[in-house]
Amino acid sequence: MARLDVTETFHHISFPGHIHTQDSLNYALHFQFQDRDTVIATYPKSGTTWMQEIVTLVKNRGDPQLSKTVPNWARAPWLEQHYSAKVLEATQGHRILTTHLPYNLLASALQGSKAKVIYVARNPKDVAVSYYHFHKMAKFLPEPNSFDEFLDSFLEGSVSYGSWFDHVKGWTSQAGVLANVLYISYEEMWLDLQGSMERISSFLQCPLVGEELTNSLRHCSFSSMSDNAMVNYTQIPKEIMDHSKGKFMRKGIIGDWRNTFTEKQIGIFDTVYSYQMKDCPLTFMWDWV
Ligand code: A3P
Repeated sequence: MARLDVTETFHHISFPGHIHTQDSLNYALHFQFQDRDTVIATYPKSGTTWMQEIVTLVKNRGDPQLSKTVPNWARAPWLEQHYSAKVLEATQGHRILTTHLPYNLLASALQGSKAKVIYVARNPKDVAVSYYHFHKMAKFLPEPNSFDEFLDSFLEGSVSYGSWFDHVKGWTSQAGVLANVLYISYEEMWLDLQGSMERISSFLQCPLVGEELTNSLRHCSFSSMSDNAMVNYTQIPKEIMDHSKGKFMRKGIIGDWRNTFTEKQIGIFDTVYSYQMKDCPLTFMWDWV
């Protein structure tokens, strides 16, 4: 079998070549958004799948039928991945799109559009740990070797999908500026899922009430999603995701980084973080929880 961990470099960012091509990446850059589209934008391992499930449930008023029968990548395709054009052509009505692209690459396609964008960010220390474990199981990503080595690449932005810092600064700079961009953190969702669900459903002009809300909350809980083959990636063959190396729905908690980072790694991380985020006006929930 051909190697899966080839990379595709696009605008100085590396992408897994197994699922991206120059054509598919260019397709995303010139995508015609429709005003009724919902776009979920995230850096990997920040709660993408969780938000795909939440938005699916909101759009279906808490009815889990779609989320239990259609894989997440088919009902909320990644715009930049090679299969998305085909999936989107076959989609009628409201579309849910997902992207890991940084804001600067999508800015021109989004300009003037009223598509609703939800940006989810997560504590970068937890992202780094989750991403490290994901590299071990995902055969389309390079073998990460030690966490120390992986953390260096993460901090310098040479991992797949580029720099976490650029991603978060780029997208959050639009939240609060544009009325159609909602910024929410993984931590907020984790600490107050009901409040987050209410916030998201109001933003999507689809406020949930009564059982719609309770059903949605039940179906997007970590335990429910861990058992849902449409989101836990257990259907993906082991040549692509080696399930003996870990689970996609791994722990689903906040602050797990404390079990991995050494004192030295915390020091290096905090120094880079302060430098990279010095001009960012936002305060982030992970700074105090
Ligand atoms: P961990 O590896 O820390 O467990 P993404 O979908 O962006 O790749 O993010 C995956 C991360 O989100 C994983 O984190 C996964 O467990 C977590 N996650 C997915 N669904 C979740 C849920 N319902 N509640 C909490 N965390 C969830």
